Amino acid sequence: MAKRTSKHRVTLIPGDGIGPEVVAAARAVLRAAEVPIDWEERLAGAAVFKKGVASGVLPETVASIRRTGMALKGPLETPVGFGEKSANVTLRKLFETYGNIRPVRELPGIRTPYSGRGIDFVVVRENVEDLYAGIEHMQTPDVAQALKIISRGGCERIVRLAFELARAEGRKTVHCATKANILKLTEGLFKRVFEEVSREYPEIRAEHMIVDNCAHQMVMRPEQFDVIVMTNMNGDILSDLASALIGGLGFAPSANLGDGAAIFEAVHGSAPQIAGKDIANPTALISSAALMLRRLGEMKAADAVQDALLVTLEDGRALTPDIAGEAGVGTKAFTAEVIRNLGRAPKSYPRREYKRLRAAQPAAPPLSVGARRLAGVDVFVESLAKPETLGPRVEAAVAGLPLRLAQISNRGAKVYPNALAAEAHPSDCLRLRFKASGRGGLAEAAVLELLARVGEVAPWMHVEKLPEFDGKPAYSKDQGED
Ligand code: IPM
Ligand code: MN
Repeated sequence: MAKRTSKHRVTLIPGDGIGPEVVAAARAVLRAAEVPIDWEERLAGAAVFKKGVASGVLPETVASIRRTGMALKGPLETPVGFGEKSANVTLRKLFETYGNIRPVRELPGIRTPYSGRGIDFVVVRENVEDLYAGIEHMQTPDVAQALKIISRGGCERIVRLAFELARAEGRKTVHCATKANILKLTEGLFKRVFEEVSREYPEIRAEHMIVDNCAHQMVMRPEQFDVIVMTNMNGDILSDLASALIGGLGFAPSANLGDGAAIFEAVHGSAPQIAGKDIANPTALISSAALMLRRLGEMKAADAVQDALLVTLEDGRALTPDIAGEAGVGTKAFTAEVIRNLGRAPKSYPRREYKRLRAAQPAAPPLSVGARRLAGVDVFVESLAKPETLGPRVEAAVAGLPLRLAQISNRGAKVYPNALAAEAHPSDCLRLRFKASGRGGLAEAAVLELLARVGEVAPWMHVEKLPEFDGKPAYSKDQGED
């Protein structure tokens, strides 16, 4: 390959657990492929948490990525169920890498129950919104709540990215998988935006699928998929499932794309139990590095690295123990084999033509609505009183205000008046839904007075207004509400 003088600057984050080993493997392969890169090695993850930096990302790491706009990173440990936020997620949010691209393609030499069926699709996962906002509150000592936040602009840019990717890779279909049947406002917004944006891409087939059916279809008939776009959490779960179809997380690469920066990483975690033993499979990280080369415009080098990796898997002479068991070789020996195979092409793997991914159009500004009316307000209270006792007490307390208690519900199901289910599980977190009595809607002052009155009956911890935009309710109905 011809040497060039202009070098790419890339931030390198070795990461935790097996991170340093698989990152070193990818770096060695890129060096051998003679891609001119100046690496800026920076820290994030466990070592940074230990220094007492709560984000898990050092300021100089942030500064470096800001400068280079490009990072290759190893996995970072995420505390489970307690402690600090995930540094992986922090990096995605810091650089607003809203698009998580996760290609899933059958690999030569890797036997799975699906071998020979030609699995070849890409999961496009929204990467910064949804439940990953990570906004949670204990409503009472007994009840926890998380907010699922979805914006129209956030949907637009990820859906466009999915269609642009389909174009760049010559793919024919984009599926959108959502839970819009249950979550009509959040997942429903994603679905509606998908349907709108799809009209800008008439040459690509656009199809919506309910996400649990998508999980089923992925296992039953994965070859039907080309590109699948999903909200963050659904995409997280189904991209793990998808990687299992082609041999597991050891093979799954990913790109986190934003307008200003791109971060490339394996889908797998830091696997601390096998760290430092020279047995980790670096395939996912080397593939992620190949994706990075495409972003850098190094299309030939990307193909060369990808091909050398595929030849190594196809030959099967030097595979890591996760695939080859007892006969396996170490991470370093596997990497040396990949390097030896640079310049060779796999026998059984038609090459896909990649065009450069076009930057998605900036999302439109937030929609403006004409008429707004405050139709009511939901007040969440902590109370162990029976609904049929609490109801009349609240009704008496709010008497004279320009509103009425429409109903009380327990986790979204009506318990007063006329409970939906006789056997509602008791909860100390109940929702009082008040509706304005006047046609003009509720005034702010009435809401404040309402809270003061309700507070005398039971402590409230959370209030949601019930707006109508252009005459349509902009909130969900309860199970059992008429
Ligand atoms: C992934 C991982 C991360 C996620 C974790 C490590 C925070 O599972 O990249 O899919 O949940 O997104
Ligand atoms: Mn995941």
